[in-house]
Amino acid sequence: MSDQWIYIKDLKDHIGEHVEIKGWLFNKRSSGKIHFLQIRDGTGFVQGIVEKSVSNETFELADELRIESSLSVKGKVRKDERSPYGYEIDVDGIEIYQIPLEDYPISKKEHGIDFLMNNRHLWLRSQRQFHILHVRNEVIWAVREFYRNNGFILIDTPILTGAIGESAGELFNIEYFDLGKAYLTQTGQLYLEAAAMAFGKVYNLGPTFRAEKSKTRRHLTEFWMNEAEVAYYTSNDNMHLQEELVSYVVGRVLERAGDHLKALERDTKPLEKVQTPFPRISYDEGVRLLQKKGFDIKWGDDIGGDEETAISEEFDRPVMVYNYPRNIKAFYMQPDPQRPEVVLCDDMLAPEGYGEIIGASERINDPDLLIERIKEFNLPAESYDWYIDLRKYGSVPHSGFGMGIERLVAWICKLEHIREAIPFARTIYRIHP
Ligand code: 4AD
Ligand code: MG
Repeated sequence: MSDQWIYIKDLKDHIGEHVEIKGWLFNKRSSGKIHFLQIRDGTGFVQGIVEKSVSNETFELADELRIESSLSVKGKVRKDERSPYGYEIDVDGIEIYQIPLEDYPISKKEHGIDFLMNNRHLWLRSQRQFHILHVRNEVIWAVREFYRNNGFILIDTPILTGAIGESAGELFNIEYFDLGKAYLTQTGQLYLEAAAMAFGKVYNLGPTFRAEKSKTRRHLTEFWMNEAEVAYYTSNDNMHLQEELVSYVVGRVLERAGDHLKALERDTKPLEKVQTPFPRISYDEGVRLLQKKGFDIKWGDDIGGDEETAISEEFDRPVMVYNYPRNIKAFYMQPDPQRPEVVLCDDMLAPEGYGEIIGASERINDPDLLIERIKEFNLPAESYDWYIDLRKYGSVPHSGFGMGIERLVAWICKLEHIREAIPFARTIYRIHP
């Protein structure tokens, strides 16, 4: 009987059996008559023991192996309490697919970040990246599951657009045949608003683009955003939805990716506190808090990255800062009827200094006011004809938000920089590989 090819994650179900593992050699130690082969297969890591006394031929094959050789090993599975992987394989057969043509460039020694990013296509194979991207995978599944459980319909919004969604200064322009300029989308929001009038509760999840010159730990030029939009929701309903979503996602990730977080040495106690209700403070209170903390800020100023960090450090779970001055927010936000100088919006700031993970608001539903704002922001009114239509035919109060997937993953994994939270990061200085 030929050996059964299994994945490392399933070793626990095969103790005592003779199996085959197909993978890559990520490390090797040798001591005279034994080779210790550290093997990964994309689902996990395991150590294979090759003893000369068991098979001389296999031992000699193991001798030849270089780091990142692709191979299949056959042997008996053993549970091993002392092994960091929990299991070992007593190897009695090796088949080599390829021995690397050159020395593998990524070694155990410290590498600079530029070197690692230049070798991102290989860096993805390392254990830390394995764990981070597994967390990302669980985050995205949990996001989709949340919407499915709560009666939302998935609406895939376009990536090529003719209307500016968020802010004119940060657009990637492209030539679009005879129609002139088109843009890479900054947000699917405007399209989700159209869909909310057709389906009530809708969401999307896809790539968005910002030609932002920001060179910070929190900015990418291409990032993934999840947006939701709900007809008849007020800003208050919107904040409730956001806290339900974020607590759900964190809860599921703790449940399903706990081992990955542990491997990343992420202290999960702060994540366990991410339970509803989340604290809410007004922008006014935010400014007072920042002034008390020594920031040179006055009412009307935007709350930047350092200020967000300072606010979020005051809370043990995400905090929603609501109702910002209208002058520092996007054109589509609904003014507060009691205080027209502020808009009904919120930013959710993640704890532990992570800052904004969600941007949200109620949307203007009056056609005249919307047209006024489009003009005020010097946006080309003709591109927004369809968006204004939504206010002509059965306009209703409605609200929504956008959540940055990489910001969320960076916080959940407690990463220094957002670039590790996406498989191939795009920043102002990087388009390769
Ligand atoms: O706050 P933003 O700009 O909001 C919007 O685009 C709204 N139209 C969303 C909506 O209401 N449907 O972006 C939303 C989120 C931010 O809170 C942040 O998490 C993330 O997207 N984000 C970025 N992530 C990485 N790199 C960047 N350059 C980002 N810009 C925004
Ligand atoms: Mg924002």
